[in-house]
Order: sequence, then C-alpha cells, then structure tokens
Amino acid sequence: MNKRIKKIINKKNRSKIVSLTAYSKNIARILDKYCDIVLVGDSLANVLYGFKNTHRITLENMILHAASVKRGIKKSLLVVDMPKNSYNSSSNALKNAKLIMSQTRCDAVKIESNKKNYYIIKKLVDSKIPVMGHIGFTPQFTNKFKIQGDTSAKTKQLIKEAISIEKAGAFSIVLECITPQSSKAITKKLKIPTIGIGSSKYCDGQILVTDDMIGLSGFYPKFVKKYLNMTRLIEKAVKKYTTDVKLKKFPETKYFLNGR
Ligand code: KIV
Repeated sequence: MNKRIKKIINKKNRSKIVSLTAYSKNIARILDKYCDIVLVGDSLANVLYGFKNTHRITLENMILHAASVKRGIKKSLLVVDMPKNSYNSSSNALKNAKLIMSQTRCDAVKIESNKKNYYIIKKLVDSKIPVMGHIGFTPQFTNKFKIQGDTSAKTKQLIKEAISIEKAGAFSIVLECITPQSSKAITKKLKIPTIGIGSSKYCDGQILVTDDMIGLSGFYPKFVKKYLNMTRLIEKAVKKYTTDVKLKKFPETKYFLNGR
C-alpha cells in the first residue's frame, strides 16, 4: 500500500485529518504545507467553470486540473474526483481511473456512492487503484440539497452503505452534510477514516472547498467557516491598480524593462 495512504489510515483515532480542495498548482503549493489530503474535487464545475452542477465536467477537465495541482504538491496525498458517468460500469471505471492515475500521478480517486456501485470500488481496489468513497449528499446523483441521516432509519441505512464501501476496499470515506449523530455513529463503526464536510466535528477529518473558506466562491452554506474575505482583498488590489493606471502612476520607472 502507498505510504501516504497508510499514513492517512493510521491517523484514525490519533489525530485529525486536514483536507482542502485545489484546482491549480498555485493554490496546491500553499495547501501542501498544511494539508494531509488535497482533493481535486469535481466542485470545480461550479466553483471555477460556473456550471449549475457538477454534471458537465469531463474526464479531460479533471485530468488537466489534477496535473496542474500535482505540480504544486510535494507531501500531501492527492485524490482526484472521478466525474459523473466516468464510472458507470466496471470496465469504464477501470479504464478511466487508470487514465487519471497515469496522466496526473495522483495517489487515489474518489467516487460518489449511488448505494449500488460498491462493486466498482472493489474492481478498482483489486486493480491496485486506491479509492476514497463519498456518501450522504452526493451531488453527482442528487440535484436537491438535503441534510442526510436525520432519522434513525436513515442513519442505519448510511451505516450500511459506509460498511459496504469499507468492505469493498476504500481507504477512507467523505461524509457530506450528514447529521452529527449519524456522522458520529458511522465514524465509530468504521475502521477507515471519515472525512466530513458539513458533517460535524465527530468525523476523523475535515474537508472544505478552498474557494468557499477563503471567501472567493460566493457560495457560503451554513457549514462553511470563512477564514478570509479574498473577494474583498482582490477587489482592493484591482481598485488600486485601476486608479494607478488612470492617473499614470503605474508603471513607475522602476518597472521599465530597461531600468530607467
Ligand atoms: O467536489 C468536491 O469538492 C468534493 C468535496 C466537497 C468533498 O467532493
């Protein structure tokens, strides 16, 4: 097993797993110093391309962004989302996962659960491709946002789903928008680590979409803590640049290429 993956699994019940998303080398280079996992999420469809959901993003798009992210990574575990329809049969999944792994040199792929595709995870893992699972709110299969695991019957269902994913060989699992009680129960039941997004402090680790937590995406659901107002910072710089250009204050002579 890949050393970086072993390290993530060993963190369970020891120390929290820190994860964020990246879509480009420049952001990845910053995250790499602090994160255990960097995810090239298909959220780039909404966040970067401005699509209304993640469905239109292609395998080629994911590979291009993941290859860029890889150039900024030295130590973190790099996980790449498989886009919708790229794993709708085992042969399709294997062919496309191999392509992602070889073209981006990432450590693992992530696939969303549709409560049936455990055999796809097994197929990839049997072929030595590490897989991260993803349950709860799964944007590739549900359009409507809804909190997950809010009754004991639904919690039981989620636990069953998580166990099936663990049995299929996944090394970790994202829990998206699952109630605290349910996340706690799932995390306790599993041997593999859970990474929560909008799923409380009881998960083994946390992930957020970086553009959300730095205040750049304009999308701030209740579970997002904004650590920065990047929009305001960029706006300040652009405003100053605009004034400088208009008042002929930029470029000053020190920026002339002949030095005078
Ligand atoms: O696409 C993504 O960014 C994700 C995270 C929200 C976990 O799947």
